Amino acid sequence: MLRTGVLVSGGGTNLQALLDATGRGDLGAEIAVVVSDKPEAFALERARAALVKAVCVERKGKSPEEFERLLVQELEEERVELVVLAGFLPMLGKGFISHFRNRAINIHPSLIPSFCGKGHYGLKVHEAALARGVKITGATVHFVDEGADTGPILLQKAVDVKEGDTPETLQRRVMEEAEWILLPEAVRLAASGRIKIGGDL
Ligand code: GAR
Repeated sequence: MLRTGVLVSGGGTNLQALLDATGRGDLGAEIAVVVSDKPEAFALERARAALVKAVCVERKGKSPEEFERLLVQELEEERVELVVLAGFLPMLGKGFISHFRNRAINIHPSLIPSFCGKGHYGLKVHEAALARGVKITGATVHFVDEGADTGPILLQKAVDVKEGDTPETLQRRVMEEAEWILLPEAVRLAASGRIKIGGDL
């Protein structure tokens, strides 16, 4: 079983999709630890309810280097092989990225390269998509590198924008029709060796 660590900051619906898949036994991976940078993140409750180790590493009051060192320490303590960023908001720098090079993936709620990069996270992504008037949006799973949403793309899924959508209705549709399907699929592909993790791409 591929040992996976999930990084979260918020509600954790993507984490829930992974927990549900492990519950059904169709992920091929084990969620060894969930780490949040926010003590109040509901995602931590979801992890505990599934009897998965849940820890908080706060960013507040730490240098970026110290924050990343502690994140790596928590993940290494559980011998994590694949890191999944599931709504994790802090940008990660060299210390973390070089440690988990090609072993960390992220889900982003748009079709990269649209509506991504600095400042594009959560509901803001859907606000931007609606403001631009696109008719199709979606979600992307990509490897994490030093840039903001710039790593190699693994999976994408398109979702229709509908007349009368609000950022909230669009966010929900992108989650239901794309994110909650794509993220478990990416982990499944990594666990089965069809996506190569670690080493050079
Ligand atoms: C998800 O829509 C995820 O794609 C997005 O934050 C949300 C977290 O929801 N991530 C980003 O915007 C990263 N740039 P969740 O906590 O319910 O999974």
